[in-house]
Amino acid sequence: MRIRRAGPLDLPGIYRVEKASFPDPWPLFAFFPYFVDRDALALVAEESGIVGFLLAFWEGKEVHIHDLAVAPEHRRKGVASALLQGLLAEAKGAQRVRLEVRASNRAAQAFYRKHGFKEVAILPGYYAGGEDGILMVRDLSEDQNPRG
Ligand SMILES: CC(C)(COP(=O)(O)OP(=O)(O)OC[C@H]1O[C@@H](n2cnc3c(N)ncnc32)[C@H](O)[C@@H]1OP(=O)(O)O)[C@@H](O)C(=O)NCCC(=O)NCCS
Repeated sequence: MRIRRAGPLDLPGIYRVEKASFPDPWPLFAFFPYFVDRDALALVAEESGIVGFLLAFWEGKEVHIHDLAVAPEHRRKGVASALLQGLLAEAKGAQRVRLEVRASNRAAQAFYRKHGFKEVAILPGYYAGGEDGILMVRDLSEDQNPRG
């Protein structure tokens, strides 16, 4: 498996994984800023095709993960961990990484907890439909021993 930066030509593969991963996938046009904005990072995991992706934005000293997904048939094989590792390798100088996750998304919460993220706030009604979000943060300045 290879982790690399993504470009617009990767959009069909990314979108396939997005649709297979979320009940409310983003519209196609929402992905374009991640390929062109200099504060954005789009990474894909590739095997014979795209099996996962991660989209993030730099906000000053903070990195905000906007989207992370792995194709269902490729989960629990370390793909998301490799994508997160790729992000952290690019995040030198950042002080923290943050993201929001659905309160019902136990798999993602377990994934982030394993990687040193902490639940720091509940965001009432954060998602369309009224579901709460959970704000999770990993403080990179505390990383004596990055867990990746
Ligand atoms: C969350 C997600 C990205 C994890 O991807 P993945 O490639 O399967 O993750 P990894 O294989 O790197 O998992 C690493 C660790 O995370 C935890 N983890 C991952 N999936 C888990 C699950 N379903 N249940 C419990 N723990 C889980 C485990 O500790 C796992 O280590 P282990 O397999 O040795 O037990 C994937 O389940 C996914 O795409 N889900 C749908 C989209 C989504 O929810 N994205 C996140 C939105 S914030």
